[in-house]
Amino acid sequence: VSGDIYPKLPLSLSEYEELAGSVLDKPAYDYYRSGANDEITLAENLQAYKRIQLYPRILVDVEKRDLTTTVLGQEISMPIMIAPTAFHKMACPSGEIATAQAAEKNQTLMVLSSLSTTTPEEVAASTSGPLWFQLYIYKDRDLTKRVIHRVEELGYKALCITVDAPLLGRRERDVRNTFSLPKGLTIATVGDYLEKAMAENAKNSSLNVYFTNLLDQSVTWRDVEWIRSISELPIILKGVHRTDDAIRAVEHGFDGIVVSNHGGRQLDTVPATINLLPSISDAVNGRLEIFLDGGIRRGTDVIKALALGARAVLIGRPILWGLAVGGYEGASAVLRLIRDETDLAMALCGISNVSEATKDLIGYRTA
Ligand code: GLV
Repeated sequence: VSGDIYPKLPLSLSEYEELAGSVLDKPAYDYYRSGANDEITLAENLQAYKRIQLYPRILVDVEKRDLTTTVLGQEISMPIMIAPTAFHKMACPSGEIATAQAAEKNQTLMVLSSLSTTTPEEVAASTSGPLWFQLYIYKDRDLTKRVIHRVEELGYKALCITVDAPLLGRRERDVRNTFSLPKGLTIATVGDYLEKAMAENAKNSSLNVYFTNLLDQSVTWRDVEWIRSISELPIILKGVHRTDDAIRAVEHGFDGIVVSNHGGRQLDTVPATINLLPSISDAVNGRLEIFLDGGIRRGTDVIKALALGARAVLIGRPILWGLAVGGYEGASAVLRLIRDETDLAMALCGISNVSEATKDLIGYRTA
């Protein structure tokens, strides 16, 4: 992002969004920013952080601060990863490759979406940084198995199974825009397979064909167990809202969960993820790693999530805004910005490493 193109660099993740809104085509911008129905959860994910207050410790030596952590044993330079989001080539021509390289530059981890516009092979070849793969379970179990074995062989280090999307939530902006993938872009993980399904359903957008025809609405705990039986990779369930489901994830021996409401894009009126976190963290009691996404826009948000029990957070849309504004450079700048904010928030909270972010830092605004 050079100063000659943009007179002022964005100073915050929300300024990146504003700028992205002015450079993206409307259907693309709408697709990325939408939530389901009335977008109550979309707004709530952001609002909830404003009601949480921080109680900093004074007179602590914070001269040296350490943001590094591990996620499923993988060291990353900060407790912030890249959430899986769809169709990065809609934001910039190099798409998911730019994202992977921004992750590598910032020494963090990218979760590649099943709705990637770049093949998992190309993404893996473009980076030496760690990658996880977000998985949807297809009706065609052979296809599912092939995808899993492909990413396993490519060196992806974990599977992150999305469990909140038997069907796609209804985003009314997309309906209004009759959203479909721009010409020339494909869902590269399934490629030809999708094209065949689309040819048979010519009236529908590729995304609807994907969800309605390819994805399995009958998936249960037994199916995620099956995935574990055919893969050596650690498995994370993404889209957990309830303590009973979190406990089940523990009992079934999964490695992690993402407390996520899919960025407010699935069931509208579910709570903000940050408000679900404390009880889930208590219920899990350290028996698996808890990650969180949804509404992280500030370093202080990161600290709040860590303090309430997340091992690390993931950011989704802000990366897309960075890509739209400046490709690889833009996505890198977004990661650097949230990292710097987190570092500053740590210093001002009186903590010098991420494990010192504990519940006593947190209070709730009542009015
Ligand atoms: C896909 O997962 C989406 O949220 O659009």
